[in-house]
Amino acid sequence: MSRLKENGFEYYTLDELKEKTYYKQDLEALTSVFDGLPQDEYAPHLNRYRRYARAVIMPGSHRVEWLPKTVINDKAYYEYFQGSFNPEYTDEYRRFPALPEEMMHNQLLEDIIRFDFQQTFWMKEDALMPVHAGIHFVKLCVHDDGEVAVSSPNNLHQDGEPFTFAHLIRRHNVKGAMNAISVPDHRGRMPVDLHPDELTASFYLENPLESYGVYDPLVTHYVGTVEKGGKNGPGERSAILIDFQPTVVSDSEKTSSMKGLTDQMIFV
Ligand SMILES: [Fe+2]
Repeated sequence: MSRLKENGFEYYTLDELKEKTYYKQDLEALTSVFDGLPQDEYAPHLNRYRRYARAVIMPGSHRVEWLPKTVINDKAYYEYFQGSFNPEYTDEYRRFPALPEEMMHNQLLEDIIRFDFQQTFWMKEDALMPVHAGIHFVKLCVHDDGEVAVSSPNNLHQDGEPFTFAHLIRRHNVKGAMNAISVPDHRGRMPVDLHPDELTASFYLENPLESYGVYDPLVTHYVGTVEKGGKNGPGERSAILIDFQPTVVSDSEKTSSMKGLTDQMIFV
């Protein structure tokens, strides 16, 4: 029985991936991408750093096919649109620096994406089509005492994509980054303002590839702020977030999201 389907939330260790021969080498390559992540230009004061990529997963074969980047002044980007679900960034496109090209050949990353995808479930019609995967490398990093790094949005929220998975890559010298899961009724609230019984789960991701997934319609989720721990050097909490959504939307979704856009569309 899938707990993700029943409760909208499940915790994973991904231990089976740690058996792979390329695990160590590919994890090192993944981790090193976080060393040089650019600052999130849309939130320069929040001590957040990120890169992004988009892929589709083919039905049947579960092959991961990376989508084209946008290149501006020799720099590669992926466009990002979250609709009205993130109240901090409504109705606007964001564009994030692309994952380095070598990540598109990282076997471990592909296995993580495929593992996540295999946890998801769809209407029959949607399962016949490629599914879109958004892959975010997100680092919360603080250099000085008193600094705070903040996730977006900073409350119990839903993402709008049906499924989101979070995989810890590195946690070092930080306080915070508490994960919390609750029900949709508590959307917009802070876990600290709720009775402990009103939280489905609260936990910390500590080890590489410690993970969780949410089925968005059933739950709200939250990641707490990050502050520097007691050791010397910066505090860092780095994770890969992977979300999935259908590549074809229903008629009702279509009318709400495509209004006024038809004259901007081009033939491929
Ligand atoms: Fe989220």
